Amino acid sequence: MEQTLRQLREESLAAIREAGALDALEALRVKYLGKKGELTAVLKQMGKLSAEERPVMGQLANQIREELTAAIETGRQTLAEKALEARLAAEATDVTMPGKPVRIGHQHPLNKVIREAKEIFIGMGFTIAEGPEVELSSYNFDRLNTGEGHPARDRQDTFYFDDNDEVLLRTQTSPVQVHVMETQPLPIRVISPGRVYRKDEVDATHSPMFHQIEGLVVDEGITFADLKGTLNELVHRLYGPETRTRFRPHHFPFTEPSCEVDIECFECHGKGCRVCKGEGWIELLGAGMVHPKVLEGCGIDTAKYSGFAFGVGAERMAMFRFGISDLRLMFENDDRFLAQF
Ligand code: DAH
Repeated sequence: MEQTLRQLREESLAAIREAGALDALEALRVKYLGKKGELTAVLKQMGKLSAEERPVMGQLANQIREELTAAIETGRQTLAEKALEARLAAEATDVTMPGKPVRIGHQHPLNKVIREAKEIFIGMGFTIAEGPEVELSSYNFDRLNTGEGHPARDRQDTFYFDDNDEVLLRTQTSPVQVHVMETQPLPIRVISPGRVYRKDEVDATHSPMFHQIEGLVVDEGITFADLKGTLNELVHRLYGPETRTRFRPHHFPFTEPSCEVDIECFECHGKGCRVCKGEGWIELLGAGMVHPKVLEGCGIDTAKYSGFAFGVGAERMAMFRFGISDLRLMFENDDRFLAQF
């Protein structure tokens, strides 16, 4: 029996040492130490031994059981450590590596100039109004004193939704004037930035979609001097206090008198150059005293109230502000362009 036990020990310890995985170790434990295991089987033979031999063999068997148990435990720990090491190696993160830079976005030049304009007008006591981009032609034209037959209403110039030409993409922010006069109490002092649409071919200065900022002031005693003061303030704050303005007579159906406002060319300061086509001035916006028919159409008493209005192209404002020569750059979303502002 001693022979059998010693052989079992050699064989089992060697097998345990070579086991390469936890489940293999467990299988060996069952094989030798389990209820039906080989060591257990030898121990069951104990009864056949003589009284002298029995304690000696019992001791040896117990010793072997302890050795095997210890060897299996050591094997388990070694395998677990190896597994952990392998996992750590696989998942290793080098915290000293430089991080990937986070790219910070920036404002679009158009939004930048619109925000600047909002700030300037809010500072003068204006609030911001909004109106629909899908508009009724009555608001876009009729109620702005622009009757049937006016060239702006032509199907070639305007995006209509229906055959009766009643619903359209607004061609200007001016209809917001009517919405505001219908819904807000007097006095009124609002600006309204937003998109407008016209059937224009795309080129360096045209786009079928662009932005305008509309302005409207209605109160007692409003005169052309208020209009000039307000717009001069806008120009001086946007383009610098030395920038000169020129109020040139013009015609708009919804204002009387009407004007266009030019600013001194930012490139040549009035001398005449390529940017201003030799004029020394560039046109910035349209404005005027709100036509009495427009006020009356909104139920405003023209004996008591008067007002001024203006509409400025936001892309134009941004182009002059940042020296951008081509309108298309603003809609291409090329980061190399946008990152400059
Ligand atoms: N709506 C005009 C346009 O798109 C611009 C304009 C001119 C707006 C005079 C006004 C104004 O409010 O008074 O050309």
